[in-house]
Amino acid sequence: MRMTGKTALITGAARGIGHAIAKALSAEGARVIVTDREGDAVTQSAKALPGPVLARALDITDTGAILELSLSLEKEGWAPDVLVNNAAAITVGDLLHTDPAALRMVFAVNVEGTFAVTKAFLPGMIARGEGTVLNMASLAGIHAMRDRFAYGATKAAIVQMTKSIAVDFVARGIRANCICPARVRTEFIEDYVNAHYADRAESYLEALERYQPIGRMVEPAEVAAMALYLCAPESAAVTGGVFVIDGGVTAGDGPGAP
Ligand SMILES: NC(=O)c1ccc[n+]([C@@H]2O[C@H](COP(=O)([O-])OP(=O)(O)OC[C@H]3O[C@@H](n4cnc5c(N)ncnc54)[C@H](O)[C@@H]3O)[C@@H](O)[C@H]2O)c1
Repeated sequence: MRMTGKTALITGAARGIGHAIAKALSAEGARVIVTDREGDAVTQSAKALPGPVLARALDITDTGAILELSLSLEKEGWAPDVLVNNAAAITVGDLLHTDPAALRMVFAVNVEGTFAVTKAFLPGMIARGEGTVLNMASLAGIHAMRDRFAYGATKAAIVQMTKSIAVDFVARGIRANCICPARVRTEFIEDYVNAHYADRAESYLEALERYQPIGRMVEPAEVAAMALYLCAPESAAVTGGVFVIDGGVTAGDGPGAP
């Protein structure tokens, strides 16, 4: 199996892409630590994983809790060799429709949270001479998407943080890569459509499907397949990479083009 002997920690793993990644890594023999701000939900969804699993409540903005978790996992013999920074928040709006509190919130979760979790677990990986960091960025981090001003800025930061980690720690056995998905069919999309586009939810969802030249959203399992490759030893030569899974959006014109 592709992940035998590996221990992977995933943030935001109660549902959606994080849960799909946990499933893919677990099915390939990894021991998996699934964490999420929603402790009950992650305990519940962990039951669907086929291999050894620990489920822990973890809000990635709580630096004290992150450090406590890293110490307790070391003690329990579950220190991770693979870290998947997947948890994130979103705000919708252009610059004029982004208030400073929303901007700070999305940076606190996506940028500072990813920073704090990585900072807590990287030293253990370095000490063991090997480790892999996989960050969930977004197409919005490399391609301006309408009304994603703050979210896009945080995801661009994550792309650059990934490259910096790759460059700074390559000589110490650490790899870092990120994935940039376009729209993926999860509750994340449903939640922000209901919060921000409730007056035209159905037509907005249809427009999201059409936006991607493949004519549909990406499935969480498709992102998880890419994540599995990037976490597994077979990608040992891959670091500092930015991997797009966007149904053709960045390639050029979609089928509706004249
Ligand atoms: N769904 C998409 O279209 C899409 C596209 C591009 C990138 N992404 C990225 O993929 C990742 C996962 O997205 P998803 O669609 O599965 O989202 P989701 O909302 O379905 O799941 C996210 C999980 O993260 C948890 N979470 C949120 N804030 C947290 C915090 N502060 N601490 C710990 N956990 C927290 C939530 O409880 C939830 O279980 C995110 O980084 C997102 O930005 C998603």
